[in-house]
Amino acid sequence: SLLQFYATRTRKLPPGPYGLPFLGYAIFFDKHNITRTYDYLYKKYGSVVGLRNGLNDVVLISGWDAVNEALLNEDLAYRPRFKISMELYPGESKGVLLNNGENWKVQRRFSLHNFRNLGFGKRSHESVILEEADYLVKQLKQKNGAPVNVKVPIGVSGINILWAILAGKRHDHNDPHLKKLVGLLNRSIQCGLITGGILNSFPFLRHIAPGYFGYTEIRNALEAIKDFVKESQAEHEATYNPNEMRDFIDLYIQEMRKDEKDASFTEKQMIALIGDLFIAGTETSSSVISFVILFMCKYPHLQDKLHENLDEVVGRESVPTMDHRTRLSYVDAFLNEALRIRNPVGIAIPHYAQRTTTVMGQRIEEGTRVNINIHSVGMDKEYWGDPENFRPDRFITPEGTLKKMDRFIPFGKGRRSCLGEALARMTSFLMFATLAHKLHFKFAPGENPSDEGISGFTMSPPNFDVIATPRF
Ligand code: HEM
Repeated sequence: SLLQFYATRTRKLPPGPYGLPFLGYAIFFDKHNITRTYDYLYKKYGSVVGLRNGLNDVVLISGWDAVNEALLNEDLAYRPRFKISMELYPGESKGVLLNNGENWKVQRRFSLHNFRNLGFGKRSHESVILEEADYLVKQLKQKNGAPVNVKVPIGVSGINILWAILAGKRHDHNDPHLKKLVGLLNRSIQCGLITGGILNSFPFLRHIAPGYFGYTEIRNALEAIKDFVKESQAEHEATYNPNEMRDFIDLYIQEMRKDEKDASFTEKQMIALIGDLFIAGTETSSSVISFVILFMCKYPHLQDKLHENLDEVVGRESVPTMDHRTRLSYVDAFLNEALRIRNPVGIAIPHYAQRTTTVMGQRIEEGTRVNINIHSVGMDKEYWGDPENFRPDRFITPEGTLKKMDRFIPFGKGRRSCLGEALARMTSFLMFATLAHKLHFKFAPGENPSDEGISGFTMSPPNFDVIATPRF
């Protein structure tokens, strides 16, 4: 019946490569770095390319004109119903990342609104992030010049920040609770949960060999994350005070109690939403910080410019804060340049044609998955001139302020743009500014990692060891 299903597909696709029967083009994707395959297909077939990936019809969109049009096309502001991911959400809930329709709108609005409110609250996002950044610097200093793989503590810090914002508690990196969460998240993300790894292209594989294709592992990790969130919810319920909203979970409980008939805010939906925020918000942020450290080591003269900017604006007596931000333009330029050239979400989370529509005049039929290549926008020769070069100065005006570039869209745009953009920008700015202010980084002897990045859930740098020395 599977073959029958395949044979009866009639959807027409824009021009693109032929794939193998049944497998489609799936096996030709460069597993190590999928943007290479996207770039190749963009060059060969143009900005709108059709292909079959496993059992799915997929259209790839590249280049500013097509990407901009696709992101603003409301018929494409939907997500595919990935069979595997849908099965794994608790009950009928669907989180926010892959959700559609009214429930998606409500959960997204709630999250955006409350991130904003909490951000300025008593325990502001800034104070949470600065505390974590300070801890990270202390930890690196304790290494006393011994080589360290910074990706590890940076990853833990990213998870800790988000957890502190959602659940109101910061953990020590040795805390068994935090360690457990880190392990679970890493495992479920590595198994290709959302990107539509192999299981989302061939869902039936989970019945044939659930262990081999990672299904069992994803399911176990997600179950454990659910238990983790449930446990925290119980703690919150027990100490809940309607007059004092401590964090995101409190606000969610408030919403659940406010209108028990409103099916949008349920316990299961809360678990799904928090799970999604972890999946979307932790590895992304830490990949960016790992990349900027790699680029600092790779380009010592640019690191010197960073230190100059920080010393001039912050001095050596205080710590970088959001108040310094407008004058720390080189810090932001460096971050922007890293996001441009190595966006951890270079291919947007898959979109989906809810209705038949067009992009650049090419017909995209209802039910087609649409993968949008944001990376290609950052690498446009006509716009950036020398996109292959790492050159933060391209984001600096002649007056020395940060330059706004309208084709710099690392968080996407439109209705499905990144929900965590403000938080991600603040986190990466403060973490990076603190690390660069306090420490000098260089590669450990013998290290010369590629900066090309490895495709996983996000695009992240390979493992590399650095030596971090206190600057003062
Ligand atoms: C979606 C980038 C951090 C939550 C996205 C998208 C991009 C992106 C490109 C997809 C847009 C699309 O599909 O058209 C990034 C980058 C980050 C980052 C570069 C870090 C530097 C975060 C953080 C959170 C977050 C910290 C949450 C705390 C989300 C969610 C979505 C999303 C929930 C899906 C929104 C929806 O489908 O309605 N992000 N993100 N992201 N991001 Fe982020």
